[in-house]
Amino acid sequence: MNRTLATAALLATALVAAPSPSARAADPPQLGKSSVRDVIAAMTREEKVGLVMGTGLNVPGLSLPPDMQAPVVGVTASGVPGAAGTTLAIPRLGIPAIVVADGPAGLRIQPTRKGEEGRTYYCTAFPVATALASSWDLDLVERVGRAMGNEVREYGVDVLLGPALNIHRNPLGGRNFEYYSEDPLVAGRMAAAMVRGVQSQGVGTSIKHYAANNHEWNRDTIDVKVSARALREIYLRGFEIAVREGGPWTVMSSYNKINGTYTSQSPALLQGVLRDDWKFDGLVMTDWFGGRDPVAQMTAGNELLMPGTGRQRRELLAALESGALKEDVLDRNVERVLALVRRTPAFHHAAHGDHPDLKAHAEEARQAAAEGMVLLRNQGALPLRAPAKVALFGNSAYSTIIGGTGSGDVNEAYVVSLAQGLKDAGFVVDGALADAYPPYIKEAEGKRPPMPMPFLLPPPIAEMTVSADEISRLAREADLALVSIGRNSGEFRDRTLENDFDLSSAEKSLLQAVASAVHAQNKKLVVVLNVGGVIETASWRDQADAILLAWQPGQEAGHAIADVLVGRTPPSGKLATTFPVRWADVPSSAGFPGKTLLGPDPNARGPFAGDRAAEVAYDDDIWVGYRHFATRGVTPAYPFGFGMSYSTFGYSDLKLSAPASDKSMTASVTVTNTGKVPGREIVQMYVSAPGQSMPKPALELKGFAKTRLLAPGASQVLTLTLSPRDLASFDAASSSWKVEAGTYTVKIGASSADLRQSATFTRAAEILDRSSR
Ligand code: BGC
Repeated sequence: MNRTLATAALLATALVAAPSPSARAADPPQLGKSSVRDVIAAMTREEKVGLVMGTGLNVPGLSLPPDMQAPVVGVTASGVPGAAGTTLAIPRLGIPAIVVADGPAGLRIQPTRKGEEGRTYYCTAFPVATALASSWDLDLVERVGRAMGNEVREYGVDVLLGPALNIHRNPLGGRNFEYYSEDPLVAGRMAAAMVRGVQSQGVGTSIKHYAANNHEWNRDTIDVKVSARALREIYLRGFEIAVREGGPWTVMSSYNKINGTYTSQSPALLQGVLRDDWKFDGLVMTDWFGGRDPVAQMTAGNELLMPGTGRQRRELLAALESGALKEDVLDRNVERVLALVRRTPAFHHAAHGDHPDLKAHAEEARQAAAEGMVLLRNQGALPLRAPAKVALFGNSAYSTIIGGTGSGDVNEAYVVSLAQGLKDAGFVVDGALADAYPPYIKEAEGKRPPMPMPFLLPPPIAEMTVSADEISRLAREADLALVSIGRNSGEFRDRTLENDFDLSSAEKSLLQAVASAVHAQNKKLVVVLNVGGVIETASWRDQADAILLAWQPGQEAGHAIADVLVGRTPPSGKLATTFPVRWADVPSSAGFPGKTLLGPDPNARGPFAGDRAAEVAYDDDIWVGYRHFATRGVTPAYPFGFGMSYSTFGYSDLKLSAPASDKSMTASVTVTNTGKVPGREIVQMYVSAPGQSMPKPALELKGFAKTRLLAPGASQVLTLTLSPRDLASFDAASSSWKVEAGTYTVKIGASSADLRQSATFTRAAEILDRSSR
């Protein structure tokens, strides 16, 4: 398929005013052949302004107010239907349009195209980021990235709008499923691995949403009030790791403000931190319609405004005219857009076949899903042995939730439900339930009111009621009961405490009724959590003989869950986010999600029309997740890093190396499978700092590794590295990273609450990386 799009060319022609006489040379310079300086010199102002913004958004069903419409009304070019945006092509200068598309769990494009009946463009729905992070397996995430990147390239897209790595600050964050962890090291390393995987295919990524976009409520207006230390150590640190270790082609700024300034308009964030401190050399794009002032965005170093609007175009042209926007600032940004364009398949006229190996990628998705599942409880119920008759309860057992909604959604070819996965693994699912659930769900879906906007999360369907008599019959006739609890969430809305974080009363009654019926028959109840984020478990977990946290596992859901239930893939995932006993135990819950300020936001428009001026104080500061629970002795339901296996593991021989010349050191530890079946163990390295000159958490994760599949009795030595920067905290007064003097303890273990080996070392005080801001 030819990537030089007729529509984009049309748009280019429409946008281009007559070039200046000097630019009207016989052979205009060509990108890649002539110097960039010459190419820019040959551009009209209109072309330059056209290049620093996308060509608009065209979502069927979404009507935008006039000022949010495309730069040239009526033309919203995209070479790939369903992609999120396109940049301007200027064919006379050899500049092609590039295509960007979501998102974190797989490529999101339209699966069918008008006039191409019989052809499809399905993408693989991989497990959501929360699930991938729970694998703690960077090689696996890189492999998933390679498969995802291959689809991006095969379908003619240039930049994938992912991975997303905001911190899980609160369980109710509506997009937590798209993000990895409450811990910046896990989030940053996962994102870096994903970036490396995707970009190995010759396409780009956009790590998002930079930064402190931790919930959805008033996301387009909210002002996050956060200390410099928490910002650097918690909310920016993951991005820093992803930039340094992954090298993403682009970064997407977020919707929110930080301490009064929109992130996309913040020179401190985009120039100071990102480019000066971290040496980022790629491009920054806005989130879709993010920020308010295009001139401030250009000046701050947000080079690309997405998806691009007519208002932005008019304002930038007027600002150039008045001098409010300097031509050299615009030129710098144009140069960075061109640098991105030059990296893309579009620029290299790369052929693409539209035929990714979806079968191989489905296998990858299945393996990744299984590796990310977390066994939370097992009182001798698992592994299961087929054949067995399963009484399978719960809407999500039949209509399994494979990923969240909004831009994090994927148009996959099929979904393997839990019911199907169990059948394929040789189990018999009770026929009466299997016959009742699907029509109940279909009917309830049909009754839902149409959603006012595309990709909004539809209201959940109430759990189907199963009579007490039926439950008794099933308890007698089936070999075991399995209840699936499902949750979905997505863009624009946070989750709720009632009926979401907490189980609904229908779910509680179902669990209770099934538990007492099967236990009366000396049979077991297994609960599968088909959720994208954290839910309450402490009040009901004792009723279950086993709990498998399957997350939202992607399109191979049912197969992957069955793989873990029978031990074909032994469970090895661990939590990358704490499960608290109560929502209120999470420190950010106190002020969540923030407060509205006086009056509606006069600028809230289009998809954000409901947004009010709002702010949220991050009073939890650096005490996010286990940093809070471990330091303040608050017992969670399941601690950070927790996850069971069908086997057990012993830890021995922790050895710290002497500091190397760069003062980094290594910790090595031997892990032995002490159980009876094969398994993999995730080893976590925490450090306790002296905490004399500044408050420090009791523990901070500084490294992790996962063993290979160890046979019973087999051992593996794992070696983890600790650099001086890992020991440092951000000191706001001097704007630098400080290592305090004193004795540090390295603690290695199976979770943040199960530390097995420790060793100490001392360090002298040190100042590192003094920041430009
Ligand atoms: C989301 C981004 C996404 C963009 C394009 C926005 O609403 O916040 O994550 O990449 O849309 O679809």
